[in-house]
Amino acid sequence: MTRAVCPGSYDPPTNGHLDIIERAAALFDEVAVAVLVNKSKRGLFTVEERMGLLAETVAHLPNVRVDSWHGLLVEYCARNDVQAIVKGLRAVSDFDYELQMAQMNQGLTGVETMFMPTKPENSFLSSSLVKEVATYGGEVAHLLPPTVHKALMARIEANRAD
Ligand code: PNS
Repeated sequence: MTRAVCPGSYDPPTNGHLDIIERAAALFDEVAVAVLVNKSKRGLFTVEERMGLLAETVAHLPNVRVDSWHGLLVEYCARNDVQAIVKGLRAVSDFDYELQMAQMNQGLTGVETMFMPTKPENSFLSSSLVKEVATYGGEVAHLLPPTVHKALMARIEANRAD
């Protein structure tokens, strides 16, 4: 049984995340999509909300499950018998930091990281940019799974009313 994890903040999940998850699901027997909790960062969505959005987004993939984790990613991998961390690389600018993390994680427990190049149409796509563009009224529907788009627009509207 080969098991991989696609870790991330997923605040919120984008089409770029979904593409990497789908491609990982085709390569591994099981894929865990893990929302990593960063205590110092307050997200637009709670961890539970992100998990709900991910669950709807990956519902068509029978070998994918959604999870969350507070703490080191390598610890998650050890406890869940995960052999590979799968990360999408958008551009050279992602590479420095991702390489550092991959080497650190490999040194800590031996867990391997596999980098998957994003599709060119997702190379500029990030959750932060999508949130910024949507907040200022730009169109982001084509960048997000439909459920996520609906939830994002509702959250921005609710925050505006506050
Ligand atoms: O979606 P993001 O924010 O780019 O994901 C980064 C994430 C959450 C995968 C990374 O920060 C991470 O692995 N955090 C867990 C804590 C940890 O293991 N830190 C040491 C990394 S070497």
